[in-house]
Amino acid sequence: MLALTAGALFVLSGLYNVSASREHLDVTTWLLDLVRRQSIRTYSLDVGQPPPEAPDAARLGAVHYELGCAACHGAPGRPPSALQAAMLPSPPSFAESVFRWSPRQLYWIVRNGQKYTGMPAWIAPGRADEVWPVVAFLGRMRDLDAHAYKELAGIARGRPAFGLGFGTLRERLEVCARCHGAPGAASPIGIVPQLSGQSRAYLERALHDYADGRRPSGYMQLIAAMLDDEEMRALAAAYAEAAAPPRAQVQDIPAELLQRGEVIAREGLPAKGVPACLNCHVDARNPAFPRILGLSSPYVEQQLRLFRGGKRNATTFGPIMQAVALRLEDGDIAAVGAYLGSLAPRIAP
Ligand code: HEC
Ligand code: HEC
Ligand code: HEC
Repeated sequence: MLALTAGALFVLSGLYNVSASREHLDVTTWLLDLVRRQSIRTYSLDVGQPPPEAPDAARLGAVHYELGCAACHGAPGRPPSALQAAMLPSPPSFAESVFRWSPRQLYWIVRNGQKYTGMPAWIAPGRADEVWPVVAFLGRMRDLDAHAYKELAGIARGRPAFGLGFGTLRERLEVCARCHGAPGAASPIGIVPQLSGQSRAYLERALHDYADGRRPSGYMQLIAAMLDDEEMRALAAAYAEAAAPPRAQVQDIPAELLQRGEVIAREGLPAKGVPACLNCHVDARNPAFPRILGLSSPYVEQQLRLFRGGKRNATTFGPIMQAVALRLEDGDIAAVGAYLGSLAPRIAP
């Protein structure tokens, strides 16, 4: 009883120093760390097995890490930043600490963040699917020296640009190009959509949709939130005015799947009430609708699932596409994805 009263008095007295400039007492640090680790171990048990890794997943994760995590956690070959050094608990430099967590535990940490530490949750709570590429990158970080990291994060030639909002158009485009390719080039990451040759009105609207949170994506919301209207217009124009890169040759996709996909795209599935995709996805219909002929299969399939699952229907035109996607079964999505992907530009190595 006496101990309890003394404890309560200590808490109420406000004597315990919670400022970020003083380390906790050893025992407090130990206790907090234990609570944190146990909590991660317990809650991450609910995380399902990682999905098969998309080919360029680690690259997408690396570019995002550089833009959204490195300021706090540092990067291979880069000493801790002033911000990292000033925070308590100090964000761990991953070289030592990240390897004790399994992929499912890392997924849980990056998705949920950590209370009272400054470690943020994934910006788009509904897009848990987006967290796996970051985990794929973290799992590979141990093997990266400074050069390999820069290469993967797309900054080998550019400079690390954290303040995306303050540069020139050229500097901003340099950041976009890390994931989307430069205007006129193919997207270097298969799961990132092709922007070159896309409709200008659509690109501009998509940027607003991300910035306003109507279209959730932890990757794009981080970036779009730093752009003003004028900058969005200029970026959309730069990509829309560039010619679309040449289409790739059809690769080894089963002919049957391609045929079925072509039928869906050009004629639809009348029995299921699915209109032909190209009815809407040609310029003449509405310039604010996207062109889908240059998009890769993994991206098309992912977006169709998002529409179907009600995760991309808060935009102005989202409900139109959701009504179509709800009528597609998994097999239809795979077929139409394979067909559209077979027409996509070859991805630069
Ligand atoms: C504002 C600063 C900040 C940002 C931005 C941030 N983190 Fe953290 N992160 C922290 C802090 C602080 C901790 C330490 C928590 C602790 O020790 O209790 C942490 C912990 C972690 C851990 C657990 C590490 C360990 O060894 O226990 C992982 C993994 C992690 N962060 C990944 C990321 C990723 C990936 C991103 C980007 C998507 C990110 N963090 C962005 C501050 C940040
Ligand atoms: C870290 C990688 C990354 C960077 C850097 C990046 N993007 Fe994206 N972008 C993505 C991903 C991933 C998506 C798809 C997100 C989704 O599921 O909605 C996307 C989607 C988009 C879309 C929607 C395209 C469509 O077909 O619907 C636009 C427009 C866009 N990005 C513009 C930009 C611009 C402009 C920049 C530079 C200022 C930029 N992006 C930088 C990863 C990135
Ligand atoms: C009735 C018109 C209509 C039909 C038919 C239609 N779409 Fe769409 N689709 C849209 C609109 C409008 C959007 C833009 C939604 C938004 O901006 O959120 C869209 C978006 C998309 C996107 C996202 C593109 C991107 O860059 O992110 C894909 C992929 C897509 N549709 C594929 C298909 C496929 C495959 C079919 C055929 C099975 C199809 N659509 C049929 C109107 C249509």
